Amino acid sequence: AARLQWGGRFSEGPAAIMQAINASIGFDHRLWREDIAGSLAHAAMLAHQGIISQDDETAIRNGLGEIHAAITSQKFTFDPALEDIHTNIEAWLVGRIGEAGRRLHTARSRNDQVATDFRLWVRNAIDAIDLQLRDLMRALADRAAEHAGTIMPGFTHLQTAQPVTFGHHLLAYVEMLARDRSRLADARARLNQCPLGSAALAGTTFPIDRNMTAQALGFTAPTANSLDAVSDRDFAIEFLAALSIMAMHLSRFAEEIIIWVSAPYRFIRLSDAYTTGSSIMPQKRNPDAAELTRAKTGRIFGALLALLTVMKGLPLAYAKDMQEDKEAVFDAADAAELSLAAMTGMVTDMQADEARMRDAAGADFATATDLADYLVRDLDLPFRTAHHVTGRIVAMAEARGTDLASLPLAAMQEAEPRITEAVFGVITVEASVAARKAIGGTAPDNVARAAAAWQKALS
Ligand code: ARG
Repeated sequence: AARLQWGGRFSEGPAAIMQAINASIGFDHRLWREDIAGSLAHAAMLAHQGIISQDDETAIRNGLGEIHAAITSQKFTFDPALEDIHTNIEAWLVGRIGEAGRRLHTARSRNDQVATDFRLWVRNAIDAIDLQLRDLMRALADRAAEHAGTIMPGFTHLQTAQPVTFGHHLLAYVEMLARDRSRLADARARLNQCPLGSAALAGTTFPIDRNMTAQALGFTAPTANSLDAVSDRDFAIEFLAALSIMAMHLSRFAEEIIIWVSAPYRFIRLSDAYTTGSSIMPQKRNPDAAELTRAKTGRIFGALLALLTVMKGLPLAYAKDMQEDKEAVFDAADAAELSLAAMTGMVTDMQADEARMRDAAGADFATATDLADYLVRDLDLPFRTAHHVTGRIVAMAEARGTDLASLPLAAMQEAEPRITEAVFGVITVEASVAARKAIGGTAPDNVARAAAAWQKALS
C-alpha cells in the first residue's frame, strides 16, 4: 500500500531516513477537511463532465464521508509510509471502495491538490482570526467607552509627555487592529482563486470544468496560469506578513500591560485569572499571558522569514521544498489565535487604578505644553518664546519641588508679568485633555464618541 500512488516503476521501499525527511503527514494531517472538500468538488466535476461515471462519483462521495467520520471519531490512522494527507486519504478510499477510488485522481496532481487545500486552510484561518480580531476590538471599545474620561499620562520616549485619557490610549489599538483586519481581508481576496485543475504543472488533457470546482469550493475564479497556480505560495507569505504586523501590534500592547501592572506604575491590575505566582516570592503576580503574547511574536516573524527563504530562488514549478510551507503557517496561526484570545481576556479582566493614573498624569509637568499654548493664545507670544518662558516656569516649580498647578501666580509672573489667574484654568490635567478637541484629539467627548462609533460598527 505504501507505494500505491507511484509504485509502478519502483521495486524497493524507501530508506528509513528518506521516509523520515519526506513524510509530511505528521503535520499536514491538519489539511484533512480541506482535502476531503477538494476531492468532493473534484469528483462531482469529473462526473458532471462525464470523465467518471455517476456510480463512481457516488461511491467516492460516500467513501469520503466515511473518512470524514473516521477522522472525526479518531478511528483513522495516519500512516507515515503514505507520506502526506493526500495519499493517506486516497489510499484509505481505495481500500474501502476499490476501483472507483482509483479514478479520483484523474485530471489532478498532488501539486494542484495541495495548493488548493492549503489556500482553503489559510482562508479558514483568516476568517477565524478576523472574528478574534473583532472580539478584541470590541472588548477594547467597551473599555474605552468606560474610560473615556479617565486621565493617564501619555508618553513619548516612555517619559511623561502630556495627559491623555485611558480610553484614547485603548482606541489607538482599535485603529491598529482595524488595519490588521483590512490587511487580512486584502490577502483573502487575492488568495481566493482556485488552483484545482492545474494538475502537475501544465494543465490537463481532460475536458474538466474549472469554474465548477472553483465555485463549489467558494473561490471567485480558477487561477489563470497552471505553472503559477502550483508554485505560488504568495498567499501564505502574505498571510504571515499580515499576521506579523498584527503580532507586532499585540506585542506593543502586551508590553504596555506588563509596564502598567508593574509596582512602580500600578496603572492597572490583572486578576488571578490572568496572572501567575512565583515559587519563591509570595508577593508576586506575574503577567505571564502578556509576556507570552509578546514572545510569540518571535514565532510569527520567524514563520514569515522561513517561508520567504524557502521560496526564494525556487525555479518553476513545484519543488518539494514547498512542503516546508505548512508547519510555519500552522504554528504562526496557532500563536496568533492564542495571543488574540489572551489579549481579549486581559482587556476584559484588567481594572484601572484611576487615582494612580491621574496622579501620574499630573506629575512631571505634563501640562507644560498647555501653559505654553496659553501664553500664545492669551498673551500673543510667539510659540518659541512661550516655550522658553514655560521652560523657566518649569525650572522654578522643579526647584520648589511642586507641580505646575501649585506654583503661585507671583512666581509665574517673574517669568512673564502678564500671566493672570486665568492660567490656572488651563494647566490642570482635566483642562489639558478637555481642550484637545480637534479631530483625533484626546478630549473625553471625542473619545466617548469614537468609542461609541466603534461599538456600533463592531456589533
Ligand atoms: N506533501 C506534498 C506537499 O506538501 C504534496 C505535494 C506533493 N507533490 C509532489 N510532486 N511530490 O508539498
